[in-house]
Amino acid sequence: MISKKLQDALNEQIVAEIYSANLYLSMSFYMEKEGFEGFSTWMKKQSAEEMDHAYQMASFIIKRGGEAVVNQIPAVKQKWTTPLEAFEDTYKHECRVSQLIDKLLELAISEHDNASQDFLWQFVREQVEEEATASGIVDRIKRMGDSAIFNLDQQYGSRA
Ligand SMILES: [Fe+2]
Ligand SMILES: [Fe+2]
Repeated sequence: MISKKLQDALNEQIVAEIYSANLYLSMSFYMEKEGFEGFSTWMKKQSAEEMDHAYQMASFIIKRGGEAVVNQIPAVKQKWTTPLEAFEDTYKHECRVSQLIDKLLELAISEHDNASQDFLWQFVREQVEEEATASGIVDRIKRMGDSAIFNLDQQYGSRA
């Protein structure tokens, strides 16, 4: 049985995950509008992964005898100046999410809730990849000129 405190904290994380999904969907629309089909596809997949995180968290709460809820999701940014700016935002956002996951894990540790700790470790590991991927794209865009960005756009469109 999950504690009320941890249940509520996980429900807050569901809000953060859906917010992430909406943020990347918003970036996807921006990329598509600017003609970056590859980045747009990449962002849609990123968005779907974030929704999947929300589903996993909801299922976990329910399995542990808690109640999963969908609370109000804050509005996300809608405009960027360049793809670089959007990917910089992505990196910053993922760093913030990593901190949220760390706090959740600390709460699970303080409650000696081993099942929740086990569940949260996979997200800790995933955040390492998410941060590295986003910062890697930022670095590549910075190193390339504007003309080369179209090349990169095509490359990221083939994301699995
Ligand atoms: Fe996530
Ligand atoms: Fe993420």
